Amino acid sequence: MNLADTIRAIPDYPKPGIIFRDITTLLGNARAFRRAVDELVQPWAGGKIDKVAGIEARGFILGGAVAHQLSAGFVPIRKKGKLPHETVSMVYSLEYGVDEIEMHKDAILPGERVLLVDDLIATGGTASAAANLIRQMGGELEAACFIVDLPGLGGADKLRALNVAVRTLIA
Ligand code: PRP
Ligand code: ADE
Repeated sequence: MNLADTIRAIPDYPKPGIIFRDITTLLGNARAFRRAVDELVQPWAGGKIDKVAGIEARGFILGGAVAHQLSAGFVPIRKKGKLPHETVSMVYSLEYGVDEIEMHKDAILPGERVLLVDDLIATGGTASAAANLIRQMGGELEAACFIVDLPGLGGADKLRALNVAVRTLIA
């Protein structure tokens, strides 16, 4: 099975000119979902990750599975206004707009080793903002991992320029 074949492309969603890479078909395929999670966690199977941070919403689906696999805690990075306790936040731009993400101030302790997880990296705006929040709280960002990279949009390079190790499964 080729993982890339389990993802579908939807033209002009959510805006004209965007080709949306829809991972729901990968998630619904039991073998593909397991393969994707197994491959994402493979470098950290030894257990040196304290927390997995997942980005709302698709990063929650993968991040929960990855955290379970690594016996790590899970930290939700959410869109503005969804977290109940004190937060740190950051505004960012992505392929089709502008948004703001937040994380609880006490979710990551100084020195904790964190793995950032999302389904896809495009411009890297979302993941860079998340990386900044994690580091702002004193977390050691071990790496960021994604199922899909859209290399034409430069997001993985943008993260590497911030000194973040990047792991992606499909380009
Ligand atoms: C998508 C995707 C990433 C982000 C990538 O999320 O899941 O989080 O865009 O784009 P970027 O690299 O250009 O920042 P979206 O904001 O659409 O939210 P969703 O998961 O709630 O659909
Ligand atoms: N997030 C940003 N760009 C995207 C795309 N082309 N497909 C799916 N999710 C995205």
